[in-house]
Amino acid sequence: MRKNIVAGNWKMNKSFEEADDLVNDIMTKLEEKELGENTLMILCPPFPYLEMCQDYSNDSYFAIGAQNVNDNEKGAYTGEVSATMLSSMEIEYCIVGHSERRAYYGETDAMVARKVDRLLENDIRPIVCCGEVLEEREAGKQFEVVSRQIKDGLFHLDAEKFGQIIIAYEPVWAIGTGKTATPEQAQEIHAFIRNLIAEKYGKEVADNTSILYGGSCKPSNARELFANPDVDGGLIGGASLQADDFVNIALSF
Ligand code: 13P
Repeated sequence: MRKNIVAGNWKMNKSFEEADDLVNDIMTKLEEKELGENTLMILCPPFPYLEMCQDYSNDSYFAIGAQNVNDNEKGAYTGEVSATMLSSMEIEYCIVGHSERRAYYGETDAMVARKVDRLLENDIRPIVCCGEVLEEREAGKQFEVVSRQIKDGLFHLDAEKFGQIIIAYEPVWAIGTGKTATPEQAQEIHAFIRNLIAEKYGKEVADNTSILYGGSCKPSNARELFANPDVDGGLIGGASLQADDFVNIALSF
């Protein structure tokens, strides 16, 4: 059975001290209210805070993910972080192909594919983002765009490896804009993605893949989004920076 997942993408926010406070607050809230048995919480802090968050996660309230990884194994790539490094810190998850990386750092589907390979070689589960921009949605091209991102980024994998993938559908027009996809829009494209996976890998693999929604997800809309049969949780930006909001979202299944 696939997991319900709520992952917090902190992006480039918070000082070390603020980050430490946030994790502490999340832990306190999780002591008061337990997550559902099938719910997994993942925190994705900036690289410099991974170890601090990892230390807290030993109590197994949540798992830790990175926000990015380099597509090479190692070497002269100043400022970059490899999958081997993340693995040596026992980081279990990593976001790949976020629309901000695609837009500002030229991350292509081919790079996404290589990053996914590096992560899987190191037993780190990729959280692979896809989603269309506003003009693509307005032109009715969202299915075409998402299909290309998924196929070119992931369909080189065999079924066993694909089984490690978590997908996050994040319509770019909904990220940080306060404009959320309607539950119907989310369900429609999540079902489309699951169907793509089923066509390639079969129904069992598709049914076991968690597909998260991302884009202005908050406590007030999480419940109706997550109530859809193909929406298995969220990749949360802004609302993951507030312990109350983030935990409330994780309690929305
Ligand atoms: P917001 O929740 O701030 O819209 O960001 C979503 C996102 O990009 C998560 O990766």
